[in-house]
Amino acid sequence: MGQVNALAPNDPSAAGRSDTPDPSPSSPIADLLALRTPEGTALLDELRSYDPSQELAIATRLRRTHPAALVSAALGQARLRQRAVAKFGAEDAYRMFFTPNGVEQATRTSVATHRARRFAQTGAVRAVADLCCGIGGDAIALARAGIRVLAVDRDPLTAEVARANAAVLGLAELIEVRCADVAEIDTAPYDAVFVDPARRGGRGRIFDPEAYSPPLSWATGAALAAPRAALKIAPGIPHEAIPAQAEAEWISDGGDVKEAVLWFGEGFAAGSYRATVLPAGATLWSGAPLPAPPVGPVGRYLYEPDGAVIRAHLVADVVARCEGRLLDETIAYITSDQPYESPYTSGYEITDQLPFNMKKLKALLRERKVGVLTVKKRGSAVEPEELRRRMKLQGPNSATVFLTRVAGAPTMLIGHPLTGPA
Ligand SMILES: C[S@@+](CC[C@H](N)C(=O)[O-])C[C@H]1O[C@@H](n2cnc3c(N)ncnc32)[C@H](O)[C@@H]1O
Repeated sequence: MGQVNALAPNDPSAAGRSDTPDPSPSSPIADLLALRTPEGTALLDELRSYDPSQELAIATRLRRTHPAALVSAALGQARLRQRAVAKFGAEDAYRMFFTPNGVEQATRTSVATHRARRFAQTGAVRAVADLCCGIGGDAIALARAGIRVLAVDRDPLTAEVARANAAVLGLAELIEVRCADVAEIDTAPYDAVFVDPARRGGRGRIFDPEAYSPPLSWATGAALAAPRAALKIAPGIPHEAIPAQAEAEWISDGGDVKEAVLWFGEGFAAGSYRATVLPAGATLWSGAPLPAPPVGPVGRYLYEPDGAVIRAHLVADVVARCEGRLLDETIAYITSDQPYESPYTSGYEITDQLPFNMKKLKALLRERKVGVLTVKKRGSAVEPEELRRRMKLQGPNSATVFLTRVAGAPTMLIGHPLTGPA
């Protein structure tokens, strides 16, 4: 297979580099600039629906009429654009440029738009310093919310990609990209700062907030020095690590928790927690924790809270809303006797409750002619795949089984979703 040259990943040692990009003929920046010429643009358009399994044949054909380096760069970029569709949607992704790290670390449009809206809704944020802009995921959403952005990244290639993205999306008037270390930036002229530290190093994902680049303590200092601020952090951050001055928000999209954000300044409620569920845009907020919810027997319905609700420690709020109870004080499954519809939960009707017993479950599924089984678990060590294999499923029906504990006892609950797929 021909050598395919995706724009090189960020260099973690890039701190303090000069602002002048290196456009030497073999550099990734030169590749990016070549891709922005009419010839490069046409090649990328041609590769829009490119099938990676045909890469060798495509590369051979294109090299007959285009320089080999341009073909390599275009194939690498086409592959990154395909990966980026999930975050940015096809319309933007096929116009934008990416690096492998840049697409990996970028905020998806849905989340970036939600955050930009919150800044805009304060009515006081017209200019934001986006410290650690990457390829521009957040800067683009901020600009589209009508906010002027200074977008800063210390990696020259990444900054150049952000600049290209602002241009191709028609946002260059609103986004100024600067290649610099964030520590050099005077944020005083801005209404707000946004910091999205790099959470990946040479050895993969970084869990210690002080090992982020820049560290969370630096980002918090920058946030407190500004009138308003938002810091993007990993959703798994321990609550003890959240600064007292911050409102913490966990955001899920399509049922998966994507990130957490710490908000600072006027318009945000310090010390409070929020769960936001996209694409619905519903947001659950609590100023103070409720007392522990009641625990009781399995009712007709079971509600599984969205991951953002669980991370934000707002399960008790949902229990109160649906007038329900927990199945077990340590497990985030809610039960109630009445139907309850909410963006914060997935609801199921429970038809059977069994003590944990594989043989009994197998007999029951056979009797019900269940061929498709969704396995959900909390508080059980059983592997869903292993369980499905042992059930030897057959039949036209589907069901959901919950492996959990009810008042401490390992239990299986069988049911079906109230809406949507099993
Ligand atoms: C998580 S990414 C930002 C992603 C961005 N918010 C987006 O949506 O595309 C973090 C970026 O921070 C940059 N970075 C890390 N430390 C930096 C520093 N001290 N100064 C400037 N940029 C830095 C990295 O080069 C990387 O591109």
